[in-house]
Amino acid sequence: MEGKQLEDPISWEPDQPASRGATEYHNAVIGAPYYIESLGEFGNFAKNKIKENDLVIDFGAGTGVSTLELLKKINLHFKVWLIDNSASWLGKAYELFKGNPNIKCFLLQKKENRYSTLAETIGKERANDVISANTMHLIPNLKDTFKGIYDSLKPDGNFIFQSSNIDREDREKGVMMIDNCINRVHELSLEIIRTEKKFEKYKMDLDKRIEIAKALRKFIFPDARMLEVYIEYLKEVGFKKPYSYYKAFKVKYADFLKFLKVKALQVGILPEVGGKDATPEEINDRDEIVTSAAHMMFKEFKENNARADDQSFTSESVYISTVKSA
Ligand SMILES: C[S@@+](CC[C@H](N)C(=O)[O-])C[C@H]1O[C@@H](n2cnc3c(N)ncnc32)[C@H](O)[C@@H]1O
Repeated sequence: MEGKQLEDPISWEPDQPASRGATEYHNAVIGAPYYIESLGEFGNFAKNKIKENDLVIDFGAGTGVSTLELLKKINLHFKVWLIDNSASWLGKAYELFKGNPNIKCFLLQKKENRYSTLAETIGKERANDVISANTMHLIPNLKDTFKGIYDSLKPDGNFIFQSSNIDREDREKGVMMIDNCINRVHELSLEIIRTEKKFEKYKMDLDKRIEIAKALRKFIFPDARMLEVYIEYLKEVGFKKPYSYYKAFKVKYADFLKFLKVKALQVGILPEVGGKDATPEEINDRDEIVTSAAHMMFKEFKENNARADDQSFTSESVYISTVKSA
C-alpha cells in the first residue's frame, strides 16, 4: 500500500527586510574565493549522497550562500528547506529564493533556554539529507542539535556538515582555523588599545572589561572543539559510519579583511569597545582598531608562517558525513 503523503509544515516568511548586518556578511563572503571554494568542495561531497526528489535541509542556512552553492553543484530536482535561528539572517535568504517553489524557509523558535530542534520544527523522519555549512561550531548544545537532526531524518538519511573551525590533533603547523585568526586579531587589538594614544579612552579598566566581554566574544566566536568531540556525539545519538576529511584553502588577506570588517562580527572580535550597543564613535574606533590589528596579523603571517605568502594565508575546512541507520 502507498504511504500517505505528509503535508508540509507551514514555512516562515519575514515581516521585515533583511538586516544590514546580514547583508554585509553576505556580500563579504559571496565574493570571497576561500569561502566559495570551501562550499564548492562541500557541494561535491554532498553530491555523492543527494538523490533525485530528495528533501534536503540546509541547517544554519544563514543568508543562503550554502544553498546557492549546493544548487550550483547538483543538477537534480530536489527540494531545499532552509533552517536558521536568526530571522535577520534567514530574511536575506528568503529574499534570494522567494518565488522558487522547491525552496522554503523555517525559523527555529526560541523555547525557554534553547531553540526548538529540527525534528520539532519540520517533524520526525521527514528529511532525506541534512546539510550544514559553517554552522556546527557555533552551536553550544551540539548533542541536542545532533539528536534533533537524527530524529528529523528518514532511515538511511544523510547528515553532512562542514566547518573551518573544527580542531584536529594533526593539523599542519601554519594552517589556520578561522578562530585562530579571530583570537590573534583580538590580542593585537588589545595591544593597540594599551599602546596607542588615540585609543587610550578604552584603556581604563581594560582587564575588567575583557573579563565582562568574554561571554559575548565567545558567543559570537566560540572556542573550537576537537573533531573527536563531534564524532563521539554523532555516535552517541545513534548516527553510524562517521567519515571525515579535511582540505586546505588559500585565504587572500584582502578577502579576509572584508570578513573582519563586517560590523556584526566586530562586536564579537572586540566587544571591549562598545559591546553590543556601541555608539557610532565606538563603532568607528572598533573598526579602525580591528583593521590595524588585521594588518599586523597579516605581517606576522608573511614573516613567520610557512603556509602564508605575500597575498594569502592557508586555512582548512573539515568535512564530515554520517548516516542514520535503517
Ligand atoms: C556563518 S553562518 C553560515 C551560513 C551558511 N550556511 C553559509 O555557509 O554561508 C552561520 C549560521 O548559523 C546560524 N546559527 C547559529 N546558531 C544556530 C543554532 N543554534 N541553530 C540554528 N542556526 C544557528 C546563524 O544564525 C547563521 O545564520
